[in-house]
Amino acid sequence: MPLVHGTELFQAARKGHYAIGAFNTNNLEWTRAILKGAQELNVPVLIQTSMGAAKYMGGYELCKQLIEATVKSMAITVPVVIHLDHGDYEAAKEAIAAGYNSVMFDGHDLPFAENVEKTKEIVALAHSKGISVEAEVGSIGGEEDGVVGEGELASVEEAKTLAATGIDFLAAGIGNIHGQYPDNWKGLHFDRLQEIADAVDLPLVLHGGSGIPQEQVEKAIHMGISKLNINTECQLAFAKATREYIEAGKDKQGKGYDPRKLLAPGTQAITDTFEEICGWMGTKPVKLVPQEL
Ligand code: 13P
Repeated sequence: MPLVHGTELFQAARKGHYAIGAFNTNNLEWTRAILKGAQELNVPVLIQTSMGAAKYMGGYELCKQLIEATVKSMAITVPVVIHLDHGDYEAAKEAIAAGYNSVMFDGHDLPFAENVEKTKEIVALAHSKGISVEAEVGSIGGEEDGVVGEGELASVEEAKTLAATGIDFLAAGIGNIHGQYPDNWKGLHFDRLQEIADAVDLPLVLHGGSGIPQEQVEKAIHMGISKLNINTECQLAFAKATREYIEAGKDKQGKGYDPRKLLAPGTQAITDTFEEICGWMGTKPVKLVPQEL
């Protein structure tokens, strides 16, 4: 069973100046589409559920079991990390209890000292079970599943303090936004990313990966981003392909209304999006990863 925690995978990515995709799942189709892409490209993948997606799907245990059983039934051989995206303190503990391989404890809305203390508690609990931990410094702009970030630029001192809690990877607010980027978006703050990358040795995480111009993502990866979070891009691709299917009247032809047919183009669009993004992220085929550790 190729389920693994994320520590060594993302360390290898930072060392090798490439990134591994962290794709949000919402249901069975999403899960299958992401795993199919990873297996076809022979690359490691992180599948993550937000708190909202886990609630929608029926809870952390169901999510963990669904992903694990899908990995098995699809005979997936590449490394797969099951990760909690933007968990609060309770969600992180629940996902750890449910057997996730990795959790993000997002304490950005707490006073910083409390964020640090709670991060330490989650690290101790997670590491006692071989589970990796991500934390966030600064905050990510935009709104995702009711979690609203102001887009606060990460402080280098706070990044160093959070890194010292023993976390395995660090997300930093550097002007990135969840969801679609507005036309007047100013771009990533590369100066701040460089300062954080110089101060912190850990793999760094870029949230809000959808819609950032490719050259900015490539530059960020070269500077230390090792985990690229993608959700909206797959949602848009799924919606577009499904709309085209219905607008072409295909749901009215034969048994085109059968969900196995109706959802197929959208599901394939997620796999295509995954493969396109992995292509320009430079994600290494699995056999290269251990040599870089
Ligand atoms: P996007 O939806 O903007 O791709 O962001 C995904 C993300 O950062 C999940 O944490």
